[in-house]
Amino acid sequence: LQQHILLSIDSLEELQQVIQLSAKFRKKSATNVLLRVAGFKNRQLKHQGKASRFGIKYDDIGQALDLLEDCRERLKLIGFAFHLDTVSPLEKAIAAQSCFSLFEQALEKDFEPTVLNIGGGFKLSYLARADEWSQYNSAMREAALGASAPLTWQGNTFGLVPDKGVLRGSFNSYSFYDSCAGADFLNEIISHQVEDQNGLSIARFLRDNGIELWVEPGRALLDQVGLTVARVNSVRQSSQDETLVCLNMKRQDLCFIDQEMFVDPIVLYQDQSVPLSQPEQPVYFAGNLCLESDLVTRHQTFLPRLPSPGDLVVFVNTAGYFMDFSASEAIMQPIARKVAVFRGNKSFGWALDENYYPWLETTEERQ
Ligand SMILES: Cc1ncc(COP(=O)(O)O)c(C=O)c1O
Repeated sequence: LQQHILLSIDSLEELQQVIQLSAKFRKKSATNVLLRVAGFKNRQLKHQGKASRFGIKYDDIGQALDLLEDCRERLKLIGFAFHLDTVSPLEKAIAAQSCFSLFEQALEKDFEPTVLNIGGGFKLSYLARADEWSQYNSAMREAALGASAPLTWQGNTFGLVPDKGVLRGSFNSYSFYDSCAGADFLNEIISHQVEDQNGLSIARFLRDNGIELWVEPGRALLDQVGLTVARVNSVRQSSQDETLVCLNMKRQDLCFIDQEMFVDPIVLYQDQSVPLSQPEQPVYFAGNLCLESDLVTRHQTFLPRLPSPGDLVVFVNTAGYFMDFSASEAIMQPIARKVAVFRGNKSFGWALDENYYPWLETTEERQ
C-alpha cells in the first residue's frame, strides 16, 4: 500500500485488513486491487474443482464487492484473478469463463474491471519424445504388477496399488512429457468456447469486452533453466545386489521426498575408455544422508557404463520446483552452492549466485 503496488486479495479477512491499512496510508490516488477467486462450481465438469487454501470463495465475491464499494477512493478494483492447482486446460478455461459473471456483478455496482489474471500452471514438457515417457511408464506398471523384474527401489509404485492383476490408485508424478505445453497450453485455454455465447472463444470474448488477460507462468518460464550437479562418491552393491551410485548430494537437493525426478541425468565420465556395457546397467542414485530413504532416484536409470568416484552426474532443467524447493542442511550436510553462469564477451563466466547481479544489456552494449 505504501509503495502503491497492485494487490491480489486472497481472502475476505485480507480485504478487511487492506481496507483498514489503506485508511492509515492514505494516498492521493487509489491502489489497484484484484480479487483472487477460488471454489469455482464447474457445471461442465463431472467433479467439482479441487479444494484450495487460497482465494475468496466464488460465492463470497458479492461480499467483497460490497466491502470495496465503501472505499473506492482508496482501493480500485481492476479485475479478478485465480491460480488453479491443476494441469487441466479445461478446468482453467471453465474457471476463466466463470469469472465473466463476476465482471458483470462488478459492472452492476459501477466498478470498471478490465483485467482477468489466470495465474500459472502452464504445463512443461521435460522430454523430447512421447515414447520416452510412455515406454518407461508402461514398463514400470508391468513391473508393479509383478509381470517383470522390479524397476523401482523396494517395489515403490508411486501411488499405484496392485490389486488382483490390476493397478488401482493414481500415479503420483508430474507427467514428464506433454504434447501441449507452454504457449500451446495457454492457447488451448483461451480457445475454449464460452458457454451460451454462440461458439465465442475465451480469447474473443476478452477482446470484445476490452478485458486484458494476465498470466503468471512459473514453471513454464523456467523451461530449460537450471542444472543440479553432484559428484559420485562411490559405486556399490545393495544387500539385494542392486547397483547404487552414491552422490555427494541428498534427495532434497533435487526434489521433495514424495516426488520423483524421472528425467535421466547426464553422467560426465572422466575416463571415456571404460568399455560400454551391454545391456545398459540399471542403477539407483543414492544420497549422502544416513537415512534409508535418502535415494536421489527411486526408479532405475539405465546407464551405458558405470560411473566411477569423481564423475559428475548432472540433473537438467531443475530450476522450476526442483533444486530450491526442499534443500535443507540435514545432519550438517550443506545446501549445494548455487552458481550463476552467464555469457561473457568471448566465453561463459560464472559467479556465486549471491554475488551475481545481472543487469539488462542495452542495445548499444550488445553492439
Ligand atoms: C498465484 C500463483 N501464480 C502463479 C504461480 C506459478 O505456477 P506455475 O509454476 O505452476 O506456473 C503460482 C505457484 O504456486 C501461484 O501461487
